[in-house]
Amino acid sequence: MGKFVMVQENGRTTIGAPDKLFGVSSLAKARIAEIGKEKVFDSTIGALMDDEGELIVLSSVVDVLKSLAPKDYAAYAPISGVPAYLEAVKTAVFEDIETKGFVEACYAPGGTGALRNAISCYTQMGDSILTSDWHWGPYKVICAEQQRKVTTYTLFDEEGKFNQASFAEKLNGLLEVQDQVLMIINTPAHNPTGYTFTLEDWDKVNEVLLSVSPEKNIILVVDIAYLDFAGDAMEYRQFMKKLMDYPENILPMYAFSASKGFTMYGMRCGALVCVAPTAEIAKEFKDATSVASRASWSNGNRAAMETIARIFNDAELKAKVTAERTEYVNMLRRRGAAFTEAADQVGLKACPFDSGFFITIPFESIDFAEAVGKELQKYEVFAVVLGAGVRVSIASLSEEKCKQVPGLIIKAMEAVRG
Ligand SMILES: Cc1ncc(COP(=O)(O)O)c(C=O)c1O
Repeated sequence: MGKFVMVQENGRTTIGAPDKLFGVSSLAKARIAEIGKEKVFDSTIGALMDDEGELIVLSSVVDVLKSLAPKDYAAYAPISGVPAYLEAVKTAVFEDIETKGFVEACYAPGGTGALRNAISCYTQMGDSILTSDWHWGPYKVICAEQQRKVTTYTLFDEEGKFNQASFAEKLNGLLEVQDQVLMIINTPAHNPTGYTFTLEDWDKVNEVLLSVSPEKNIILVVDIAYLDFAGDAMEYRQFMKKLMDYPENILPMYAFSASKGFTMYGMRCGALVCVAPTAEIAKEFKDATSVASRASWSNGNRAAMETIARIFNDAELKAKVTAERTEYVNMLRRRGAAFTEAADQVGLKACPFDSGFFITIPFESIDFAEAVGKELQKYEVFAVVLGAGVRVSIASLSEEKCKQVPGLIIKAMEAVRG
């Protein structure tokens, strides 16, 4: 008899477990109700909020959404996605970066759905995927749901640089027992650290990938959930050029999400995009992802797809969305700078941060991180404890609050050390 009455666990080890994020987020909300939002640092939210704590929604995107005709949202969309959307997504991912090979896309409900389909179609039950030790928690949940596992390498070396040695060791270890390995690299503006793989990091990744035996396959999934909130659009896409000339045993893919870049979080819109080296591999991608979609969510959100398609088919509209978003990207970058400058001043060491929604403070142990997370709540700071670190969402704190948090973390660390 298992631990459930009727539910079959099937590898989903977190069934019934308390949701850590929800727990601390509820505490923050309760404090806001008691003492007011000005006094509370709610840095648990994974969405961009304005300085008053309200969700930022791009009005240019909303205008397009509101202009849709009933048939644009009421009708079923094709399983793989509306054709105009699939074309738009290619531009959304690559912009002016020249692609090579065969580019295909398949709609997914958000980046989450894209990752789900990548894992479903390109790994076998029991396989391990590879990602870094600091990673977005749902990777594990998506894998467990499908009875796959996660192996991690150490993202940073002693100097806070990409740890090529650990990456190579863990990948080669997996390749000894699997003929194909899917890896997820979340860049730019990695969740939870804010790290961005540099072009040199990509050279190091490629050095390892190109040393893999041609008998073995690599599926390289780049999770670009925060791509449009990292900074300059073209600068942050330069790395894609380094993922265009792979041999036939390496298949690069992108998990595109409209959640952040188009503030369509709740509309569930994303895509899995592949740059296949051959027409056969591209066809397989289309066929397999369409079956995987059919078997999970079936048709996608047509209104969301139509909205993205219209934005990319109208230069004026696109310029409007980009201009509006740029204001917020700049705001987010100012928050990041405010936090890192304050951290330097008080001697707080964060994981190497470049851009994005989050900054993570690494600690020596999980227990210490848990204790600091609790202590911080005494100063009205609510942040998520992730392994041996505390993740601060600068996306949900004003610049002024970002300046204050590092000092409060030092205070909490000192209180815990006693
Ligand atoms: C690292 C990372 N990848 C992917 C996603 C996917 O988001 P969505 O499914 O809303 O597109 C998120 C969302 O928080 C994320 O943080």
